[in-house]
Amino acid sequence: MPECDLIIENARLLDGLGGPEIRGGVAVRGDTIAAVGDLSEWQPTQRIDAGGQCLAPGFIDVHTHHDRAALDQPDLPFVVSQGVTSIIVGNCGISLAPLDAPSALPEPLALLGGREVYRFDNFAAYFAALEAAQPRVNVGVLAGHGVMRTRVMDDVARPATTGEVAAMCALLDEALEAGVLGLSTGLAYPVATHAPTAEVTAIARRLAAHPGARYVTHMRDERDQVAQSVAETLQIGREAGVPVVISHHKCIGRANFGRSRETLAMIDTALREQDVALDQYPYDASSTVLLPHKVKDADRILIAASDPHPGAAGRYLDEIATEMGCDAEEAARRLMPGVAIYFQMSEEDITRILRHPRVMIGSDGIPGPNAHPRLWGAFPRVLGRYVREQKMLSLPEAVRRMTSLPAQVFGLARRGRLQQGFFADLVLFDPDRIADRAGYADPALPSEGIIDVYVNGRPVLKAGTEARPGRVLRRASHARA
Ligand code: ZN
Ligand code: CU
Repeated sequence: MPECDLIIENARLLDGLGGPEIRGGVAVRGDTIAAVGDLSEWQPTQRIDAGGQCLAPGFIDVHTHHDRAALDQPDLPFVVSQGVTSIIVGNCGISLAPLDAPSALPEPLALLGGREVYRFDNFAAYFAALEAAQPRVNVGVLAGHGVMRTRVMDDVARPATTGEVAAMCALLDEALEAGVLGLSTGLAYPVATHAPTAEVTAIARRLAAHPGARYVTHMRDERDQVAQSVAETLQIGREAGVPVVISHHKCIGRANFGRSRETLAMIDTALREQDVALDQYPYDASSTVLLPHKVKDADRILIAASDPHPGAAGRYLDEIATEMGCDAEEAARRLMPGVAIYFQMSEEDITRILRHPRVMIGSDGIPGPNAHPRLWGAFPRVLGRYVREQKMLSLPEAVRRMTSLPAQVFGLARRGRLQQGFFADLVLFDPDRIADRAGYADPALPSEGIIDVYVNGRPVLKAGTEARPGRVLRRASHARA
């Protein structure tokens, strides 16, 4: 009889590829799935009865800002409690490397913390710190364009010179050699708004020399210019010859509600000739650094954090403005630097985008005490609200978007499927009960219905499990033997 460490049996198996459920179990040996399906021949050291619940590949959160949390909160409870077993950091142009002891932090770099958190001169140093911190889940990393601009330019409020573009290309080459999965930009943010398309294309071209590397973007505008921004992104992908990922796709502001019809049609046309994927979080409010120019597009703004006025956290900006005796933009200016939650998207766009077959789930979680509830709830919310309650997607299809699709898009080798030889990243959940509990008033609540989570064959969810078995996910063609 073949032997293994663990069998989880009597489960509804979701393969991650969107195929129909089958009844059976998964055998785990070491960090790897040894067999799937009928395991009557197998002799395990430990046997767990899944009680007829769903067993799926661990979810992959393709869009997080956990760069720093992975180092100083390596248990990552807001990640593990959602059934997530791999995260990608370095999104929106913001990564902790390559930037050591900056003299100033242009926005939105403060999203990850103050100047003292930027202390990695190169990505090899950041990867070494990640490995030393031993996070509970696997971590893939993108190199942030905004951070590279901060490093090489004396003034980011202008296009980079030829020499500065060359310097950023060299930094990206070094990052790719260290194993980052690609380049991220945040062209909507002050650090990068002055970067013309040509600058970004010139840097993104470096990705083409590194098989599997991709261009990931928080686009220049998600409001009135959202269609032009999609066009710019697709153009950069074509001209650089690289796959593109559009981050947290949305249409901001009442004037733009419904325009996902237009943007998704552009993406469908482009898909005939280029590789495009997207990610999304399932909420009608966004969250990022507090910026006065963003005030006018939102119906309401909730303050998540303010350095000069810590007491403002958890309160609405309009109320604070009334107290201050000024308008909301001025109040925002006085509360900076900070983080805010902006109510500014429509349910119609959320569901239309969610149904698109190239859309992955990314929480866009920003760790903090008054964070947007997506930090704790994004994945269970998709499976509870949008799959079980609203039937927007089938369960196998929703799981595919959280597992094999992101693994394929980001080139994560042997992740995202229940298949022999793949890593034993697993989530056991109750499809009738799974739901987010985190809300705007009480955002730090673990979800319901996640029963157990395994990372590289080790249990990580239940009280008393101390394991931190996560690994750094270097770009596949670059994986260490
Ligand atoms: Zn972003
Ligand atoms: Cu982001």
